[in-house]
Amino acid sequence: MAFYYNNKYLSLYLLIFLIFLNCQNEENVAESTTKKVVEYDMYQPSEMANLMNAMYAYNQQLKAQIVAGKTPTQLPLDLAKLHTAEMTDKNGRTPAWNSFVNVFIASQQTIIDTISNVDLKERYNASINNCLGCHKTECTGPIPKIKKLLIQ
Ligand code: HEC
Repeated sequence: MAFYYNNKYLSLYLLIFLIFLNCQNEENVAESTTKKVVEYDMYQPSEMANLMNAMYAYNQQLKAQIVAGKTPTQLPLDLAKLHTAEMTDKNGRTPAWNSFVNVFIASQQTIIDTISNVDLKERYNASINNCLGCHKTECTGPIPKIKKLLIQ
């Protein structure tokens, strides 16, 4: 039992360390991609793709908090940027996009509503289903990855 607890804390420290490491890595990655773009004209993610990846990371963190029985209280991302961020050329703000975007933003906000009567896991999963709703028509590639965010 003692070993289990030790291990649990060890994993927690490891996780915190990894998150920290990851933030630093992201900067490095950003730097090295810019360099490579100059040298090899490599794929550069759009502003929207970067925002989406930040949303993914944020929701991954929400999931971990909720599974651990914690109540998330912060939404550090500026989701209004969904309305302005530049997208990959082949994608655009289609009528389907427009019908999903505000519903999605509202659903992300319900997760940090600490006085809501609706079960936290239900609010969280509803929001992830809104990611999926838009992705079904607008960008199908990341769907399997997004499904992993759902809390079973
Ligand atoms: C309103 C529609 C919409 C919603 C809501 C939405 N997405 Fe996206 N997502 C897109 C589109 C469109 C793209 C492609 C971006 C581009 O063209 O630059 C994308 C791209 C992505 C990518 C790929 C980024 C890359 O590196 O290319 C991921 C991952 C992603 N979304 C995750 C999510 C997650 C997680 C959520 C919910 C928290 C979400 N999306 C909500 C429309 C949406």
